[in-house]
Amino acid sequence: MTLVGMGPSEALARLFTAEGKRDPYPLYDALWPLGPAFRLGPELVMVLGYDECSAALRHRDLLVTDADAHRRTGLLAHSTWQCFTKIMMFSNEPDHGRLRQFAGDAYSPRQVARLRPAAVDRGRTLIADLSGRVDLVAAYTYPFTMAVTGDLLGIPSSDRDALRVPVLACTTAFEPILTQDELVAADAGMDVLTDYFRELIRHRRRHPSDDLTGTMVRDGDATGAISEEELVASLVLFLIAGTQTPSDVIGNAVQLVVSRRLPAHDLVADPGTLADFVTEAVRIDPAIHMLTRVAARDLELGGVHIAAGSRVLLTLAAANRDPRRFGRQDEFDVGREGNAPLAFGLGTHYCLGASFAKLLVDVALAELLGRFPAMSLASEPSYREQLVQRGLADLVVNLEG
Ligand code: HEM
Repeated sequence: MTLVGMGPSEALARLFTAEGKRDPYPLYDALWPLGPAFRLGPELVMVLGYDECSAALRHRDLLVTDADAHRRTGLLAHSTWQCFTKIMMFSNEPDHGRLRQFAGDAYSPRQVARLRPAAVDRGRTLIADLSGRVDLVAAYTYPFTMAVTGDLLGIPSSDRDALRVPVLACTTAFEPILTQDELVAADAGMDVLTDYFRELIRHRRRHPSDDLTGTMVRDGDATGAISEEELVASLVLFLIAGTQTPSDVIGNAVQLVVSRRLPAHDLVADPGTLADFVTEAVRIDPAIHMLTRVAARDLELGGVHIAAGSRVLLTLAAANRDPRRFGRQDEFDVGREGNAPLAFGLGTHYCLGASFAKLLVDVALAELLGRFPAMSLASEPSYREQLVQRGLADLVVNLEG
């Protein structure tokens, strides 16, 4: 994208276009003259700064867009948001704490560590079938995350392929501006996923099991701590977050390696370097670019007055390149001191699955780049037209270089 002479208002206008969504970084740069936080409309504020986004994520009066907030937008009439407003990510207290506690320690670092050998096995099995020219999104990043997440949730292997398109369709519902066509497609995807989990839950009641679906059904029935629709919604969330988001992180990271010709072998050579590589990859090209909050009362953020009821767009991807926080912010540097990008959020809604996500990303990258360190781009990769959930539509490489 050519940006010579582009002013902030033009950058804003372009940000929500197809072109802007595919490559928003030059547009975030062009917005900086407006400051780390600025008003987009009478009740809409955009935040680019690292400190300002961090403060907002920890602010007790900046709430997630729950059912109350959506009643005013009309989105609650849609099956996508009927489901999403029943998950912890889009609930405020007291429901948020209850739903988070109910998920228990399934995603705790201790439980997640036990999944590593099986995840490695899944990665190696997929890699054994790869050679020559391959689209890694279709053949590796998503199949890998679906294999491990499907095993954890207890989704039968024969059901998994049919969930791919619905999962992706639902992620468009996070966009701050949606077309009617996108909403219809997201709703159709959500209907498939909610019907699927309702049926799986019924099946688990007849045939109890120790996978996460079976455990949640048993605990829910025993304690009454979660309604049936909240259980369905939680499983939808665990499926989407456990497949699409880590698949996007893996794809974005591999894309960085092949397009910047980084030394693949060195980046995965030891666990410490691999961890630094992943941290820097989610800083420079994160899978979640933007989160939305609603002000519960009048407040001030980054010098901007925010009236009660206003929406606040927290642009994590811009914050991760805030020049006041990160020197040489556009350079990829695994050696950064104190590198702490906002890729997994902060505060009470900090990613519940962060340990699991890191396991998936670590294993996928170590296995793939360890096996094919010389891989090269076979064609220009394309990003999907999504601003909030950023990931590649395809990543075609020559594995042997
Ligand atoms: C690499 C992949 C992932 C990334 C980049 C990511 C990112 C995020 C971010 C930014 C948030 C904060 C949302 C907010 O504050 O509004 C979040 C929350 C959350 N994530 Fe993840 N996530 C990933 C993978 C996962 C996985 C694998 C799971 C588990 C299945 C998961 C489950 C959750 C849940 C349940 C929340 C909501 C927590 C709450 O509201 O208390 N995520 N994630």
